[in-house]
Amino acid sequence: MVTTAARADEGLRSRAREIARRLELPLAIRRRESLDELMAARGARFAVVAAREGTFLYFEGKQYRYHPGMAVGRLRQVLRGGHDPLLKAADIRPGDRVVDATLGFGADAMLLSHAAGPGGRVVGVESRPVIAWLAEEGLRTYVHPAVPELSSAMRRVEVIQSDHLDFFRRLPDRSVDVIYFDPMFGRTVAQSRGIDALRVFGDASPLRPEAVEEAKRVARRRVVMKERRGSDAFARLGFVPVPKLSGRVQFGVMNLED
Ligand SMILES: C[S@@+](CC[C@H](N)C(=O)[O-])C[C@H]1O[C@@H](n2cnc3c(N)ncnc32)[C@H](O)[C@@H]1O
Repeated sequence: MVTTAARADEGLRSRAREIARRLELPLAIRRRESLDELMAARGARFAVVAAREGTFLYFEGKQYRYHPGMAVGRLRQVLRGGHDPLLKAADIRPGDRVVDATLGFGADAMLLSHAAGPGGRVVGVESRPVIAWLAEEGLRTYVHPAVPELSSAMRRVEVIQSDHLDFFRRLPDRSVDVIYFDPMFGRTVAQSRGIDALRVFGDASPLRPEAVEEAKRVARRRVVMKERRGSDAFARLGFVPVPKLSGRVQFGVMNLED
């Protein structure tokens, strides 16, 4: 269900109505009851809550607010002149057109956007409406007081709520430079804020070979996938694993210029 924080004014109520319409979820008007009481009365498993400081998700007694997560540290590292394994694997250059086909909360997309720069274009595609909504709002509004470059990179990510295969089918051949997949299947992701919400709300279905085929048609330079280190998905889907491993995950690359 969708509702508001306690003591909502008309502005928040109309925001909740808009979210309910966009997400096609029932709207529950909040009076004096707690979120748990309202959810029990409605038989709701989770709530999307319009609050003054932004929308948050509520389930199993916990609030999940948008946060860029590991992207902050990764961008700081890049700004200090260090490298980021994703940017290296994807070989992102200023001006690139990039599709992040599994946006989630957009941590990777922010790095891609920073590297593509103001002259580039990063589109993030997310199939799950609740995640796409939170990501879109967070990418549009989040401010990190110490890393202004993060906000600029975030504002340039365009969010599309769609299945990535449907999205690719609407694009001409070789119309973007790089396509990136970070599917959820079979992966135990590191603990970090926001991850639980992805586990509950994210689409964990495996990456389909048809989606990879379409990505090869649409991309001009590279298709990149992140997976569990040593996963057999690399060979099965035609990616060459990047030799240098980073922690528990690994990137696989298809170089379309070869
Ligand atoms: C592991 S998460 C991505 C995390 C992201 N790379 C980040 O840095 O925050 C995978 C996301 O892809 C989404 N997803 C899965 N299958 C999809 C599909 N066919 N089309 C679009 N999004 C999809 C899931 O709902 C989930 O939010």
